[in-house]
Amino acid sequence: MRVAILASGSGSNAAALMHCFSATEGVDVVLVGSNRSGAGVLEKAQQAGVSSIHFTSDDLAGGVLLKKLKTVNVDWVLLAGFLLQIPIEFCRAFENKILNIHPSLLPKFGGKGMYGMNVHRAVFEAAEKESGMTIHYVNECFDEGEIVFQGRIDVSQLTSAEEISSEVLKLEHEYYPRVASALILDSKTPVK
Ligand code: GRF
Repeated sequence: MRVAILASGSGSNAAALMHCFSATEGVDVVLVGSNRSGAGVLEKAQQAGVSSIHFTSDDLAGGVLLKKLKTVNVDWVLLAGFLLQIPIEFCRAFENKILNIHPSLLPKFGGKGMYGMNVHRAVFEAAEKESGMTIHYVNECFDEGEIVFQGRIDVSQLTSAEEISSEVLKLEHEYYPRVASALILDSKTPVK
């Protein structure tokens, strides 16, 4: 199964995915794409020996990126800190084959503007007792696709949004590769 990772930021989740899949038979990361030319994820791809591209938001909206992914025969798309909305045609072309990771227990603290530290600050300010991460399928609405997995942590003793962020990120690195590879490998089983 050929996987593309799309990310806008530092790419620690992308790095965890590349690291895990490099030792997973049957799952290959063939491309890392970012809408930010200076994003740390592009350097992480280079370090891992994975091809990478920079694309613009117009490339995403106008189908150029979709065409590129089809040209290199991508089967699955994993979003890992990707900040642009996926267009409907893209979602249809990869139906049930796009996953995203979100740093809260959706539907809580999801939706427009809820990304990165904004999420953890909101969790901290709401004095939530628990937080965590959600892995979900992607549809054309932000953070609303079917939930596949949630990992939870007790945050009642944590004293800042930064601490919550760091604990949630550990969960993300632990579970995203495991959950994604299980789904990807399972999708190889022919439908009976
Ligand atoms: C993660 O918290 C992820 O849940 C969210 O964006 C963040 C990306 O972090 N979608 P990184 O770039 O993988 O370090």
